Amino acid sequence: MQKILAANWKMHKTLPETVDYFSRFEKYHAKTLTLLFFLPVIHLPTAKSLTSCPLGVQNIHHEDEGAFTGETSLKMVKEYCSWVLVGHSDRRTYAKETDMEVNKKIKLAKRYSKNIMLCIGETTLEKKMGQTQQALKQRLLTALDTVYDLMNIAITYEPYWAISNGNPEHKPATPEDVEQVHQWIRMILAERYSQETADNCPILYGGSVRKENAALFLKQANINGLLVGNASLNPDEFKDILKSLKEH
Ligand code: PGA
Repeated sequence: MQKILAANWKMHKTLPETVDYFSRFEKYHAKTLTLLFFLPVIHLPTAKSLTSCPLGVQNIHHEDEGAFTGETSLKMVKEYCSWVLVGHSDRRTYAKETDMEVNKKIKLAKRYSKNIMLCIGETTLEKKMGQTQQALKQRLLTALDTVYDLMNIAITYEPYWAISNGNPEHKPATPEDVEQVHQWIRMILAERYSQETADNCPILYGGSVRKENAALFLKQANINGLLVGNASLNPDEFKDILKSLKEH
């Protein structure tokens, strides 16, 4: 399956910075991997005019419209993105987003035939208490409740304790540990759907990915891509990651 390298800018960059960033990726054409950018919603129209890379929205509301002040619906941005990110730990932490809401967002995005990147991960406390598998299984199965196929769905494993959010204790997971977790996620997907469906579902890793470790993750059989936050913000740094994956 084609590997995926996804950037997640989170709440970063002004409009001029966005224009500058994509001017440096102008001539980039993916050869063996899908290069994709999850951008702040306001930059999607500009970015669409500057790059041929697929774009994604970092969040959507689970309704098409209504009295939801400050929210953005997929109906409003559907022309500008082919991907939707759901369940990122930032949203689970700061916006108190629940698995039930994540489930509604997945169903909405499926209705719009978008590609969906579903993030799941265990918290620092869950890891300490040895509850990684239990937490991941519960998040995964609730998010996928009454989702009858995995068409256009990618799963991203992002342990909370590995995400570089300024906390100096946050460190990347090891490629070997991630591989084991991904094998386990695939097994849960095979039980819920079928082995073939599970084998065809991309499972990505995110959490402190850098140019030094990116290729090591992608060498593992069950790591089908990477979701990169901090190291995707600087175009040169992100290009270094691409180069380390022999894509330039
Ligand atoms: P990071 O973020 O690469 O800065 O750790 C990843 C993410 O939160 O998507």
